Amino acid sequence: MKGVILAGGLATRLRPLTWVTNKHLLPVYNKPMIYYPLEAMVKAGIKEILLTSSPDHAGDFANLLKSGEDFGVRLYYAIQKNPTAGIADGISMAKEFARNEKVLVILGDNIFSLNLKHIADKFKSKKKGAVIFGVETDTSSRQYGVVEIGENDKVLSIEEKPEFPKSKIAQTGIYMYDERVFDFIKKLRPSKRGQLEVTDLNNHYLREGTLECETLNWWIDAGTSHDELLRANVVVSEKVKRGEL
Ligand code: DAU
Repeated sequence: MKGVILAGGLATRLRPLTWVTNKHLLPVYNKPMIYYPLEAMVKAGIKEILLTSSPDHAGDFANLLKSGEDFGVRLYYAIQKNPTAGIADGISMAKEFARNEKVLVILGDNIFSLNLKHIADKFKSKKKGAVIFGVETDTSSRQYGVVEIGENDKVLSIEEKPEFPKSKIAQTGIYMYDERVFDFIKKLRPSKRGQLEVTDLNNHYLREGTLECETLNWWIDAGTSHDELLRANVVVSEKVKRGEL
């Protein structure tokens, strides 16, 4: 299984911090933000990872993370020409890299402590499908995709930043896809905000009946606001001191 970390976007919600610095290089307690998804990949047992970023910042990531050797992985870099074309557009950059293997995708601003290894190993043995990860949170802020879950943990719907959320489960930025993901992305059309949406991609698997949802009990999207970035710093510092991260 290959890894893909997305570090594009313009991070307008974190300006002026992000006028010059890429969001994923901002500090979260004692490390740059990008270390968290990268270390989550390492814990999951992924050995080859593609990092996608914008034309302006790709060099910064290469300067920081180099070959990936210090993390025990091999890192590859790709430039997403239009870094706001959407998360699914970012994932599509990994087609050649994935070489018909399944992929674990993590958004570069997601911070969590769940070890994904067990779930990744289970997914690897599956013939087809996708896994998304949900977390209980306040979904009324219209910051997240919202997952509706029915009996036997069956996913009933996923909606991108809905006005009237059907549940309190937010879709996190952690996804596992089978080899067909790139064919599904080709079928997507830009949303009203002009992006190839990860939610539309996940809905392909939902309609096919092959989408599963796992849950996390702790997760922060550090890119949503200055307050969430601050909260990420505080919570991570507490967790590090308690030896939980
Ligand atoms: O973090 C969870 C949320 O991430 C989900 O609940 C939503 O369903 C999903 O759409 C996404 O929403 P965001 O509004 O947080 O997406 P954002 O534009 O902040 O981008 C998330 C990450 O993906 C960020 O680290 C930058 C990267 N990205 C984003 C876009 C649009 C790219 O690498 N390329 C892109 O084109």
